[in-house]
Amino acid sequence: MSKFSITGGKSLEGTITVSGAKNAVLPIIAASLLCAEPIQLDDAPDLLDVNVMNQVISALGATVERNGSTLKIHAHEIDCIEAPYDLVSQMRASIVTMGPLLARKGHVRISHPGGCAIGSRPINWHLKGLEALGAEVKMDHGFLDVSSKGLRGARIYLDYPSVGATENIMMAAAMAHGTTLIENAAQEPEIVDLATFLNEMGGKVRGAGTSIIHIEGVREFHSTSHTVIPDRIEAGSYLLIVAATGGDVLVQNVIADHLKPLIAKMEEAGVRMIEEGDGIRISGDGVYNAVDIKTQVHPGFPTDLQAPFMAFLTRANGTGLFTETVFENRFMHVDELKRMGADIKIEGRSAIVQGIQRLNAAPVTATDLRAGAALILAALTAEGTTAIRGIHHIDRGYEKVEEKLSRIGADIVRED
Ligand code: EPZ
Repeated sequence: MSKFSITGGKSLEGTITVSGAKNAVLPIIAASLLCAEPIQLDDAPDLLDVNVMNQVISALGATVERNGSTLKIHAHEIDCIEAPYDLVSQMRASIVTMGPLLARKGHVRISHPGGCAIGSRPINWHLKGLEALGAEVKMDHGFLDVSSKGLRGARIYLDYPSVGATENIMMAAAMAHGTTLIENAAQEPEIVDLATFLNEMGGKVRGAGTSIIHIEGVREFHSTSHTVIPDRIEAGSYLLIVAATGGDVLVQNVIADHLKPLIAKMEEAGVRMIEEGDGIRISGDGVYNAVDIKTQVHPGFPTDLQAPFMAFLTRANGTGLFTETVFENRFMHVDELKRMGADIKIEGRSAIVQGIQRLNAAPVTATDLRAGAALILAALTAEGTTAIRGIHHIDRGYEKVEEKLSRIGADIVRED
């Protein structure tokens, strides 16, 4: 079992470059199943989750080649409509292959994705949207069997702006007969990047990034190459890490507009940041005032940055209140931070964080991807050397994390 060994207390200097967005490239790889011609994706991060998605579409008949951060995908023939259980169970995001497979082949079998550490993660809104487009959904020994004799455009109101449901419905509607309206759609930047990709392939999607998305079905798609947007959650995690350790770092390859909620809360805490070229420069001494955080769907404060922000506030002056409204169990990092001396109390869906002088090193375990990022931040500010286990969670969403952090002066070593 690999672990990170991190010695805290050093301020960070230099430039750190953000990779392409995991949560954009995953649905875009699935969307490439809609097209019988070759697709090229640039800035596709080399992450565990991306490799799993590549294995899923390969099992369905597509060819995938990686050359650095470029993926060449060719779904010339889809000769299988069943996403392999062992891959889907590894990564629930595989569920977004349902929409494109249904659109291209009229049939998909996929195991109902399990929950994960942060919640039960149901897919009822995905299925309700696909049924509205004319699909028939059956449960067969733990497998979802979804088929249609021809998808037809529909007006779909989402009970909740679910990111995955919006993506699945958008991709199924992209080849449906007629027009589809998705109301109360998710507005995340990754939804916009997926819509941009669909349109670059010849799709007709309008309104992505707002709560109403308008999709006109087309008969086929053509070759294109697409550059994946920068990962706003990776960028936000690094901004918080530098704010916590102190120093002077340029976080490069950032679309500041995608990080407005985070930047607003960090500035409220007293962090100094300025836009510089295609990045954000952050400098400071590592101590700030506490603020309150409530996670919301975009453009609210992103749930994926709740854990890293909480780690950042463990040493702030004052008390911060965190409320997690998106997932029902996303405070697992709290127990690990408390092992390092943090003063945090959970009350239902809220956590009260009382700032302390300094965290102490302690052996801790990452329970999920963003909890892992929070523990890296905590270890970089703590007194002593911290061992973090469960780092395969971190490798799911942070490309070359120890290389990138070492390059700006962090003392982090991966030990097998
Ligand atoms: C996406 O997950 C992201 N994953 C998550 O990032 C992110 O936290 C989440 O959106 C919210 O922004 C990818 O894009 C691969 P949802 P997704 O559907 O699509 C419930 C990370 O760390 N729900 O918007 O699964 C669900 O249980 C990951 O990178 C239903 O009840 O998020 C959750 O409580 C973690 N029924 C809430 O809605 C449904 O049919 C939001 O889920 C669908 C969702």
